[in-house]
Amino acid sequence: MIAQLSQGCADDLDAVMRVMTSAFPDRYGEAWTRSQCAGILPMAGVKLVLAEDGEANVVGFSLYRTIVDDAELLLLAVEPNSRGKGIGRQLLSNFIADAKSSGATRVHLEVRDGNPAIQVYETAGFEQANRRRNYYRGRDGAAFDALTFVLTTQD
Ligand SMILES: CC(C)(COP(=O)(O)OP(=O)(O)OC[C@H]1O[C@@H](n2cnc3c(N)ncnc32)[C@H](O)[C@@H]1OP(=O)(O)O)[C@@H](O)C(=O)NCCC(=O)NCCS
Repeated sequence: MIAQLSQGCADDLDAVMRVMTSAFPDRYGEAWTRSQCAGILPMAGVKLVLAEDGEANVVGFSLYRTIVDDAELLLLAVEPNSRGKGIGRQLLSNFIADAKSSGATRVHLEVRDGNPAIQVYETAGFEQANRRRNYYRGRDGAAFDALTFVLTTQD
């Protein structure tokens, strides 16, 4: 076992925001605010999964939404000190398995063009499907494209 995964809730938002702030560079505008996270958690089909290290510290999380046959990974983050140990891959595999078992046949996500996480997604079998121009807005007003990646789970 790489990390202990468990389902999170609104009580875990302090830990989630700590990981969020450390994981996403400020300049790209990818991180969500606490109120965005708090707002989406009660919505139907939304799940927060926490990754804890051996001392029960939250070191990563995924946030995703499954609606009927469609699952979207909204956020995936691992704090910098815990990277490269397979926790990101573990959270991604857990998301894909949960999406499949919930009946999703289309699994997708959006990621900033140039984000190194793309390699993690491609290794897991995701393929680029679309580009959304200027989707992300950095703090200084700079714009970055989003790429949509899709994994078809129907065998
Ligand atoms: C993307 C992220 C979650 C990966 O977490 P992680 O725990 O380091 O990932 P893993 O250790 O499971 O690595 C999985 C694979 O991707 C590779 N990888 C991970 N991060 C990488 C990076 N920054 N650059 C290049 N390759 C990377 C690893 O080498 C590994 O490949 P391997 O198994 O062939 O060696 C983490 O880098 C992160 O939090 N990034 C910032 C937040 C973000 O941009 N999230 C994605 C958009 S929502």
